[in-house]
Amino acid sequence: MAAIVLFAGGWLNMRGELGMTWTAFVVYIGFYWRVLEPAKAIAASYASIQKGLVSGNRIFAILDVQNEIKDPENPVILEEFKESIRFEDVSFAYEEEPVLKNIDFTVPKGKMVAIVGPSGAGKSTIADLIPRFWDPTSGSILLDGVDIKKYSLRSLRSQMGIVTQEAVLLNDTVFNNIKFGMEDATREQVIAAAKIANADEFISQMEQGYDTNIGDRGSKLSGGQRQRIAIARAVLKNPPIMILDEATSALDTESERLVQDALTKLMTNRTSIVIAHRLSTIQFADEIIVIQEGKIVERGNHKQLLEKGGLYSHLCSLQTVS
Ligand SMILES: Nc1ncnc2c1ncn2[C@@H]1O[C@H](COP(=O)(O)OP(=O)(O)OP(=O)(O)O)[C@@H](O)[C@H]1O
Ligand SMILES: [Mg+2]
Repeated sequence: MAAIVLFAGGWLNMRGELGMTWTAFVVYIGFYWRVLEPAKAIAASYASIQKGLVSGNRIFAILDVQNEIKDPENPVILEEFKESIRFEDVSFAYEEEPVLKNIDFTVPKGKMVAIVGPSGAGKSTIADLIPRFWDPTSGSILLDGVDIKKYSLRSLRSQMGIVTQEAVLLNDTVFNNIKFGMEDATREQVIAAAKIANADEFISQMEQGYDTNIGDRGSKLSGGQRQRIAIARAVLKNPPIMILDEATSALDTESERLVQDALTKLMTNRTSIVIAHRLSTIQFADEIIVIQEGKIVERGNHKQLLEKGGLYSHLCSLQTVS
């Protein structure tokens, strides 16, 4: 631009048509040159302000979303889990389509209830209702006879440890990932938890042991290792109620055995709700509930269900469990 102006102006000036002295012309060009850059910067900054405004709007839209799950007005503090967890005629829909229909079951304290069924049947949804990640559309969930909506969320959730299908791991060290949410846990306690979860061995073999960073969502670990870190986290929390949503990902026999073993240790002397894909996990459950398309289609223990010859025994025969 400057070259064009200089050239055109020079040419006009030479023909005497501009009516400027050469000095005035040079000063004019200098002036133009100095104004051009800031003017461009102003235009550019306007564009970034617009970009910022749009992004800001999106962020505030997310921040403004109300959390639908709230503490009640006068929350009851759940001090200690004493008797049972009960689902009473619970139905649930994420959107229009009902996902759970009239679910009824009881988990007495100290017992293990297993939930099995085909993929998409609604098993993980049942598990999500207990810590109140969602509230039932109708029916209620009672803990020690009191609707869980009456408890303070914090005290309710402090009673449960949850190992989900996809372990939620952070881009941090192994140590911090196990310690997550338990601020005053010591290093010894973390290592003890990892040992119970059969994770200590592979952690010790990593370059910086417990201080190794595991990458985004634990991407530097294998599926079985991620699961065992999640189990160690639950062990450290040591809650009375365990909710376990077994990962669907296939593990090799050796890591499956290690994970299995870790889970067995985790569940002893605890009230547990286990969603199992590998049916060998739950043969010893006190009650097995078979879910299909959001409904309970069978219930009983392993032996009873096998004798019945329904969906459960069919699933078992696919996995050759006897
Ligand atoms: N956040 C969600 N929003 C809408 N629909 C959902 C949501 N999560 C799950 N669903 C639907 O609810 C149904 C039950 O899902 P759920 O995750 O409970 O199945 P599942 O029994 O745990 O299956 P899997 O064995 O594969 O883990 C599915 O049809 C699924 O598409
Ligand atoms: Mg699931």
